[in-house]
Amino acid sequence: MNLSVKVGDLYLKTPIICASGTFGLADELKDLVDYSAIGAVVSKTITLKPQAGNPPPRIYELPAGVINSIGLENPGIDLFIKEKLKKFVSLPTKHIVSVGGFEDKEYIICVEKLESFNKIDAFEINLSCPNIKLKKLISCDAKHTLKLLRSLRKLTKKPIIAKITAEVTDIVEIAKAIYDAGADAVSLVNTFFALAINIETKKTYLGNVYGGYSGLAIKPIALYKVWKIAKNIDIPIIGGGGIKEAKDAIEFILAGAVAISLGTINLTEPNKAVEILEGMKDYMKRKNIKDIKNLRGGLIV
Ligand SMILES: Cc1cc2nc3c(=O)[nH]c(=O)nc-3n(C[C@H](O)[C@H](O)[C@H](O)COP(=O)(O)O)c2cc1C
Repeated sequence: MNLSVKVGDLYLKTPIICASGTFGLADELKDLVDYSAIGAVVSKTITLKPQAGNPPPRIYELPAGVINSIGLENPGIDLFIKEKLKKFVSLPTKHIVSVGGFEDKEYIICVEKLESFNKIDAFEINLSCPNIKLKKLISCDAKHTLKLLRSLRKLTKKPIIAKITAEVTDIVEIAKAIYDAGADAVSLVNTFFALAINIETKKTYLGNVYGGYSGLAIKPIALYKVWKIAKNIDIPIIGGGGIKEAKDAIEFILAGAVAISLGTINLTEPNKAVEILEGMKDYMKRKNIKDIKNLRGGLIV
């Protein structure tokens, strides 16, 4: 049975990717995790300058998910390269570095600084963080998405994955811009802008007032957006949002995703990929599917 996949030119031994911001900055989880089930890990998003992140509390659990306002806390590109990168690329799986920024030139400088490291297998360009002060998320603007990704495309031959928000009416327009820019794949969804209010204090549960919502509740919305892109644009999709078990992962593959990403689940069960991969194999066996690519986009409508 074959569960390996190719995301553009990026070969993954399994279709399971651990999502940015939920799997540490470098190798913090290495003693808790069996990497044989994990096709790739994505680093916490790295920015040009160090980011202290938002005031606490930064994370709050809700009945069907989690709201967070971490705010891209990270040591900045130079310290990441100096102190974290070696550990990150030593993990026995593929390594995707997530790059973010407040201006286009910050993304450009970060990619330039990282480009020469052979063990970085791909870049994920975070165009969708809800927790930093921006007028508009880049991935809400097709023209801006196209312009930035075109500039980055000129700087690197490594695969470029665009991480986008689902909070747009026309997600196909955004995916088309990513395709037109020559990026290799699209990754969705990021978290959704959200608010959780404590009626006793009349305040919200987060120090930054609002945050990004993830986990179980967002799965049907994420699935719809993945399906919508898969139907319309010929670009590999990394799909995720609320995946907790094999059944969820299979739904994303049926909707058209090439690979799937685990986010919030890592916060409580960082080794969940093992169980999810086994569950996917059981399903494929039961349905007599020998190669996961024969499952992709198999939704019957
Ligand atoms: C605590 C936390 C921190 C996150 N940090 C990042 C980040 O730095 N960069 C990024 O692209 N996405 C970040 N995300 C979004 C996740 O990578 C993922 O796209 C999102 O949570 C949806 O998937 P899920 O429902 O499986 O969690 C973060 C999510 C959480 C819960």
